[in-house]
Amino acid sequence: MTQETQGRGAWGNRLGFILAAAGSAVGLGNLWKFPYLTYRFGGEDPEQGGAGGFVLIYLLCVALVGLPVMIAEVLIGRRGRLNPVGSFRALRPASPWRLTGFLGLLAGFLILSYYAVVAGWTMEYVVKSVAWDFAGNDPVQMFDDFVSNPVKQVAWFFVFMVFSVLVVIGGVSKGIERWNRILMPLLLLMLLILVVRVFTLPGGGKAMRFLFLPDFANLDLDMVLWALGQAFFSLSLGMGALLTYGSYLPRKANIGLACVAIAGLDVFVALCASVVIFGSIFSFGLVMESGGIGNLFTAIPAIFLKMEGGRWMSVIFYVLVSFAALTSAVSLLEVVSSYLIDEKKMLRRNAVITAGTIIFAVGVPCALSFNLLAGFTVLDRTVFDLFDFFCANLALPIGGILISFFVGWVLTTEEKKEELGEFSPGLFKVWNFLVRVVAPLAILLVLGALLMGRVSG
Ligand code: PHE
Repeated sequence: MTQETQGRGAWGNRLGFILAAAGSAVGLGNLWKFPYLTYRFGGEDPEQGGAGGFVLIYLLCVALVGLPVMIAEVLIGRRGRLNPVGSFRALRPASPWRLTGFLGLLAGFLILSYYAVVAGWTMEYVVKSVAWDFAGNDPVQMFDDFVSNPVKQVAWFFVFMVFSVLVVIGGVSKGIERWNRILMPLLLLMLLILVVRVFTLPGGGKAMRFLFLPDFANLDLDMVLWALGQAFFSLSLGMGALLTYGSYLPRKANIGLACVAIAGLDVFVALCASVVIFGSIFSFGLVMESGGIGNLFTAIPAIFLKMEGGRWMSVIFYVLVSFAALTSAVSLLEVVSSYLIDEKKMLRRNAVITAGTIIFAVGVPCALSFNLLAGFTVLDRTVFDLFDFFCANLALPIGGILISFFVGWVLTTEEKKEELGEFSPGLFKVWNFLVRVVAPLAILLVLGALLMGRVSG
C-alpha cells in the first residue's frame, strides 16, 4: 500500500506545496474583496486622494501578523503531520488544544458552503462572457436577475462543488498539486495580460498613483482593523488550511522561505487585480458600487463592454476568477476531508464525497439567500451573510489568536527550532516575538473592536 492510498499524501516537492498554498490563498479575497476595500478606503475620487494608506497598512499587516502566523500554522501541520484536530492532539495529547482544530474544521465547512455559491457565479459569468450577453444589457439588472433565480443559484453551486470534489478526490500529489501546477501559473499569466492591457489605457498610471502614493488623510482605526481582517482571509489563515497543507510538506523543506513566497504571491495578485480594476474604472470614468460582492459582476462587465476586445478579455478574466476560487475551495474541502481520512479512517474518495455532500446541503440555504430565502434573516442577516460574518469576522481571528498563542507560548523553543532550522538566531527571535506578542495583540484589537461595534460586520 502506498502512502497515498493509506490516506496521508505528500507533496512531490516544495514548489508543489508553494503553488498549492498560494492557490489556497489567492481567491475571491484577492480579486474582489481587496480592490473593493482599497476603493472604499481610498475615497471615491482619485483626484481627491488615494488608497496608498490602506495598501501600506495592509502590507504591514501581512508582514507583521499574517506571515508570522502563517509560519506558525504550517509549522504545526508539518510537526503534527495530521489534519488540524489530529495535529494539535499529536503535539499536546490530552489537552483542549485540539478544540482549535475543531473550530478550524467548522470554519472550513461553513466558508466553503457560501464561498462555493459565489464561485458558482463566476462560472455563470464565464458562460455570459462567451455568449457576450453583456452587450446591450444593464449589468446591474443582469446580476440581479441572475441571483434572484433560485434554480440557477443552486445548479451552479452544485457544479462548482462537483469540480472541487473531483480535484480533491485525486489526492494530494495527483489531485491538488497537479491542478495547482497548471492553474496557478495560468492564473498569473492571465492577470499579467490584463495588467499590460490596462497600461495601454489612460487610467493605468492614475491607478498606480491611487494605489501606491501614500495618503494618510483618511487613516483611522476602522481602516487598520479591516486591513488586518483582510490579511487573514486572503492568506487563508486561522482555520487550518495551511496547517493541513503543511502536514504534507517533507521534513527537510524550508518553511520560512515557502511562506514568504506564498504571502508575496498573494499580495502580488491582489495588487495586480486592483491595478486592473482601478485602471479600467479611471479610464472609463465608471463608478463602482459601494455594496457587496456584486461589484465583480456588475462593474467588470461594464468595463469590458467599453474595451476593444472586451469580450475575450472578459472570458479570460472570469475563467481566472473561477480558477482562483477553485484552488481556494479545494483547500477548504481538503481540511474537512483530511479529518475524515485521518480520524474516521475513511477512504479518501468516500471522505471527500461525504464532506462535499454535507457542505452542499448546508450551503443550499446560502444559495437561496438571494431569492427564496431573501426575507429569512437571523440577527438581521441572511443565511449567507450570517455564515460570512461568523467565519471571516469571528472564527478566523479567534483561530489566529489560538494558533499564535499555541506556537508562541505552548511549544518549546527546541520544538520550534527543530522545524525552523534554517532561521538564524536573530530571525528566530524576531519571528517568535511577532507570534508571541504582536500577532495575538493585533488580533485581539480586531475582536475587541468588533465586540464594541467599532467595525461593521
Ligand atoms: N484565501 C481565500 C481567498 O482569498 C479564501 C480562503 C479563506 C481559503 C480561508 C481558505 C481558507 O479567496
